[in-house]
Amino acid sequence: MHVDSSPRVERSHTRRLSAEFVESWRDSHPETNIVYRDIGRNPIPHVTEEWIGAAFTPTNQRTSAQLDTLALSDRLVDELLEADVYVMGIPMYNFGVSSGFKAYIDQIVRIGRTFLFEPQDPGAIYKPLLTGKTLYVITASGDSGYEPGGVNARINHLAPYLHTVFQFIGVTDISVISVGSDEFGGERLQDSLARARKAIAEISAR
Ligand SMILES: Cc1cc2nc3c(=O)[nH]c(=O)nc-3n(C[C@H](O)[C@H](O)[C@H](O)COP(=O)(O)O)c2cc1C
Repeated sequence: MHVDSSPRVERSHTRRLSAEFVESWRDSHPETNIVYRDIGRNPIPHVTEEWIGAAFTPTNQRTSAQLDTLALSDRLVDELLEADVYVMGIPMYNFGVSSGFKAYIDQIVRIGRTFLFEPQDPGAIYKPLLTGKTLYVITASGDSGYEPGGVNARINHLAPYLHTVFQFIGVTDISVISVGSDEFGGERLQDSLARARKAIAEISAR
């Protein structure tokens, strides 16, 4: 499953690199069936009071209005359940994910569909429902040094957040490919792009 979330089109690094990832993956895994979702150009709505009420109503008690309210969320969850490998282009906005990507997260972290809440089991109150998935995140930032050990690692709320939320629903095999220095351009940006492309080539050749 291929997801883009940058609102930028031609100038987006995450969009360009996620497309290159898919192209290079397809070269080495020609049998792959790819599903594409562009939440940068087709934003996902925020959850509403009706949505929350519907999501927390047991499936067999939902009204037809509640089923309609959850239709998009159900489709997004189905896409996640059906795919084995995810590649997601996720720009850094204000040290975390964009509000557009967060709206997507709120639609896919679904009680009874991607996790279970079982307060009677003190050993595991929350149980993830996804298994065997692999997530490749392609992120881009204006500055650099957000990688572990880097000068800006402490203020990187994107990669740690993505690990937390995807692990919560059961996606534990997560790799992050980063492009930094978009605001600086020049050699710094070119070096960073070259490192990201090398990582993409290595992953898709596996
Ligand atoms: C609203 C907004 C917030 C941003 N916040 C950050 C930030 O917190 N840290 C950073 O290094 N770059 C930040 N940037 C720069 C983007 O991360 C950078 O331009 C990146 O390349 C965007 O991804 P894209 O090329 O796929 O569109 C921000 C850009 C925008 C438009």
